[in-house]
Amino acid sequence: MNNLWRKILIPAVFFVSAACSYKSDSKTVAREILSGKTLHGLEAGVACAHPEAARIGAEILAEGGNAVDASIAVQWALAVCYPNAGNIGGGGFMTARMSNGALYSLDFRETAPAAAGRDFYLEEDGSVSPGKSTDTHYAAGVPGTVRGLYAASDSLGTMNQARLIRPAVELAERGFPVTALQAELLNRFAEVFTERNPDGTAFTAAGGVWNEGDTLRQPALAATLKRIAENGAEEFYTGETAKMILRETDRRGTWFTPEDLAGYRPLWRSPLVCIQDSVRIIAPGPPSSGGVALCQMLEMGKQLRIDTLAHNSTAYIHRLTEIQRRVYADRAAYLGDPDFVHVPVKALLNPEYLSERTAGIDLIKATPSTAVREGVLPNESPETTHLSVIDAKGNAVSVTTTLNGNFGSKIIVSEAGFLLNNEMDDFSIKPGVPNMFGLTGGEANAVAPGKRMLSSMTPVIVEIHGKPFLAAGSPGGSTIITSVLQTVLNTVYFNMPIDEATAAGKFHSQWLPDRISFEKNRFYPEVLDSLRSAGHEIHFYPSLGRTDAVQVMPDGSITASGDPRADNTASGIKP
Ligand code: DON
Repeated sequence: MNNLWRKILIPAVFFVSAACSYKSDSKTVAREILSGKTLHGLEAGVACAHPEAARIGAEILAEGGNAVDASIAVQWALAVCYPNAGNIGGGGFMTARMSNGALYSLDFRETAPAAAGRDFYLEEDGSVSPGKSTDTHYAAGVPGTVRGLYAASDSLGTMNQARLIRPAVELAERGFPVTALQAELLNRFAEVFTERNPDGTAFTAAGGVWNEGDTLRQPALAATLKRIAENGAEEFYTGETAKMILRETDRRGTWFTPEDLAGYRPLWRSPLVCIQDSVRIIAPGPPSSGGVALCQMLEMGKQLRIDTLAHNSTAYIHRLTEIQRRVYADRAAYLGDPDFVHVPVKALLNPEYLSERTAGIDLIKATPSTAVREGVLPNESPETTHLSVIDAKGNAVSVTTTLNGNFGSKIIVSEAGFLLNNEMDDFSIKPGVPNMFGLTGGEANAVAPGKRMLSSMTPVIVEIHGKPFLAAGSPGGSTIITSVLQTVLNTVYFNMPIDEATAAGKFHSQWLPDRISFEKNRFYPEVLDSLRSAGHEIHFYPSLGRTDAVQVMPDGSITASGDPRADNTASGIKP
C-alpha cells in the first residue's frame, strides 16, 4: 500500500466556477471532448453506462460545471439513453467528496406508498403473490430521483438545473442511435412492453425489430423533461406530471396517492466512513447495505491478511467467500431503513465483533451457509447503473441509480413517457423468501408505508492520505457490494490501474444461496477444483459488475474508465 500515494492534487483550473448563490447557465467554451473506454491524463472525467450521457457530462465539465453538475446532467441523460436503469421513475444514492474535504451522502431511494403493508405481496394463504412485487404497478415505490437531483444541485451544484436537463430533452426529442446491446435488450423485452403497456411505447421498433444504429425517440419523455425544466421538481410531485402518474396507477388499480407523491423527500445522511491505515472509504449508510457490508468485509479481510495472498488464488477466494457469507447473513438480519428500525451500524462495524466473526472461519474448508447465522452483537449506546465524476478541482461524485430490474416494472406512465421502478421487491416480501437477487431478509426490512427498501447500491469514494483516489460503483443487485469490494481491493491492495481492476475476473457469494458465482472463463480450472474440494459449490455468471470509475493518479491527472463488459464509456477533457 506504500507506493499508493499520490502527490498533492494540483489541478489546472480553467474556469472559476460560479459562486454557490449564483447558478450559471451555459458558457461558450470550445474544449475538446474525448471519449473512450479508458482515458488517461485528463483534467476532469466521467464514466457511465452510455456514450451519449458520458459526453454530456464532459460537456458540462468543459463549461466549468463541477462534478455534481456533471453527475446531474449525466443522470437526466441516462433517463433517456439508458432507460433500463437511468430514470426519473426510480431512485438512488449519491456520495460526494468536495474539494474542501467535505463529505456528503444523499439518499434519494424510493419509499413505500401508504397503501403498502407488510402482507401486501402475499396471497390469502400466506404464499407470495407471483410477480406482484416485480411485474405490476404495485412493484413501484414512490420515485426519488427528481427531488434528489434538485437537492444535489441546490446544495452542491453551480449551474442552472434547466441547463443540465437541456441535453436530455434534446436526446429524447431528436433521438439517439441505439447500440447493439440496447437493440438486443429492447427486442428481448418487446413482448413484455406491449403486454404491460396497452397504449404502446416508444420502445416499440418502427419495423418490429431494433437494429444497432436505429434511432430511439421519446417525445412524451422530452415533454416531461421540458416541463420539469420549466417548473422545477414540483412538476413531478404535485404538477401535471404527478397527475399523469396518478392517472396511470389509478387505471391499473389504486396505488400511489397525491400525498405519497407530494410527501416524498430525499434525505441528506451522514456518509459512512471507514478507515484502514491511510485509506478512507466513503459510502452510503442504511437504507443502503452497501457501506456497512463493504466496511465489514474490508475489516475482516484485513484481519485475515488477504493482502498477502495472490489475486484470485484459491486461498484469496475462499477467505473472501467466508467473509461474504457472514456479512450477507448480518445484512439479512440487521439492515433496513434506519428511520423505521434500529440498525446497529456501530456494533456491526466494531472490530472486536468482526474478529469474533472471522474467528469462526476455517481457512481450508467451506462453512455451509446453513451453519452460519447473523452474529450476536454487543450492546450499543436494508439493472441499476453507476456513474463517477471527478472534476478539475478534485470534487468527486459517485452515484448509483436504478429502477431495480431491467427497465424496472416495464410499466410506462404513458402520458409522461417514463418507466416506473419495481423497487418494492427489495423489501423482504416474506421472511425467508428470496427476492429477485436471491436475497432473503427479515423484520428489519419488512414493508411499511413511507419506509425505504433496503438497497445494495454502493457508490463509493476512496481517499488515500486524505486525498481523493477513486470514485467507483457498479450495478448488479446483491452483487454490487462484492463488485465494489473487489474494485477497491484490486486498486488499493493489488495496485492495479483502474481499467485492469475493472476488467479483472470477479466472483460473488452472499450467504444464501450457498455458492460462489464466478465470471465464466475468467478463473483457473485448478483454482475452481480446489475450491470444490474445500466444500464450495461453484456457479457461473456470464459477467459480474459493470464498474464505472474515475481515479486520481499520483501526478494529479485523472483516469476515467468505463467497464469493458458493456457500452460503458469514459469521457473527459485534457488540461
Ligand atoms: O437497490 C438495490 O440493491 C437494487 N434495487 C439494485 C438493482 C440492480 O442493481 C439491478 N442491476 N443489475
